[in-house]
Amino acid sequence: MSTPPDAQRMEKIVSLCKRRGFIFQSSEIYGGLNGLWDYGPLGVELKRNLKNYWWQVTVHERDDVVGMDGSILTHPAVLEASGHVEGFSDPMIDCRTCKAHLRADQLVEKKGVKQCPNCGGKDLTAPRQFNLMFETHVGAAADESSIAYLRPETAQSIFVQFKNVLEVSRKKLPFGIAQIGKAFRNEINPRNFTFRSREFEQMELEYFCRPEQGMELLEYWKEERLKFYANIGIPSTKLHVLTVPDEERAFYSKGTYDIEYDFPFGRQELEGVAYRTDYDLSQHQKASGKSLEYFDEETKQRFVPHVVEPSAGVDRTVLALICEAYSEDQAPDEKGKMETRIVLRFHPRIAPIKCAVFPLLKNKESLVSKAKEIVEILRPHMYVFYDESGAIGRRYRRQDEIGTPFGVTVDFETLGEKDAALRDTVTLRDRDSMKQERVAIQDLPAILRDRIA
Ligand code: GAP
Repeated sequence: MSTPPDAQRMEKIVSLCKRRGFIFQSSEIYGGLNGLWDYGPLGVELKRNLKNYWWQVTVHERDDVVGMDGSILTHPAVLEASGHVEGFSDPMIDCRTCKAHLRADQLVEKKGVKQCPNCGGKDLTAPRQFNLMFETHVGAAADESSIAYLRPETAQSIFVQFKNVLEVSRKKLPFGIAQIGKAFRNEINPRNFTFRSREFEQMELEYFCRPEQGMELLEYWKEERLKFYANIGIPSTKLHVLTVPDEERAFYSKGTYDIEYDFPFGRQELEGVAYRTDYDLSQHQKASGKSLEYFDEETKQRFVPHVVEPSAGVDRTVLALICEAYSEDQAPDEKGKMETRIVLRFHPRIAPIKCAVFPLLKNKESLVSKAKEIVEILRPHMYVFYDESGAIGRRYRRQDEIGTPFGVTVDFETLGEKDAALRDTVTLRDRDSMKQERVAIQDLPAILRDRIA
């Protein structure tokens, strides 16, 4: 059963994202642009860590996948062949009472009568098709001949470059081409913070195979993708695999799964894993007149490969990571009084900052210089943050709130002032348990690397 929406939790998350520099509304000082978001200093780190980890496990750790980076501006012929020019649209309805523009599936039905979800109005226009692609012009002439589109998915450039990549990589089936990049959709109702945006990033893999391998590979990739989410700290209890029913699947797909996550605003799609048959390559082969066939040297057969596609949203996964990490607990303040602590319990692998380094006091030069030395030791291994301002407890809280998993404090023991045996040791604090242990400075890089990996 899906958990009930928790609007209050979502409000706290949105406010933390702004307050601490994860996500800002785009063009905010001009009133904002709906459905568009900017990532701040911490958001960009989180996003980058997610993309790097996806690339590491999808491309670098495999022999059967290579990457590419296609252009965003797309030739109209590509999107005509793929069906996007004609069919990538949502039916749209206007409410004549409150003037809301709505997707047809957002209407509410009461006693068999469709109503506007905003004002309850029943005076609605007939549905009309609204294409979700952003159109632009390439070159000086703004006419029919210069139309280009901002790509609505990264996948099409992979299909269009299939032959080139196959030739240069010399891969044999089954093999995949991966891409991370921006996609654009003029969504009728962007909502739920970054969940449905007009500009977003995708992490897509097109895994080409023989027709007889398609169904098996669909299962394989579904399982791989579930493992991925577990490895970035999204528990399996919050993930759900929906088998998309026949009538809702694209006509060319022989099987599609949606991987859904329990967001505070309800259970929603994070990723689609689809067996798309040979539809895409066949369409481009037909439209371009260029062969996109694969020649099997062993069987001497020539055929258009089939494809299984795991397609994940970067922004949706970032949002799921933040929602999953957000927690509040009770912890003692400087005077031992219990207070509410906000903690982002990110998996260390994706946490924006891995380790914060603090001198116990900022006005004691020997503590400060030792702490700065430690920053230099750790910097080649991870993203480190140095902070000397305010009481140490406050500094810990600031890092808890942005999800930094480890804190290193340089104190008088580090200088060997109390006990010579403790010289060049520091306290290492764990964000979640708040426990501190004493470790030698020289062991820090290995200990931290091990806990972050
Ligand atoms: N190539 C297949 C494809 O694009 P999709 O289900 O339309 O399939 C894949 O998109 C993923 O891209 C979604 O599961 C979601 O994570 C992300 N996505 C799609 N539309 C989005 C939007 N408007 N805002 C944010 N993410 C979006």
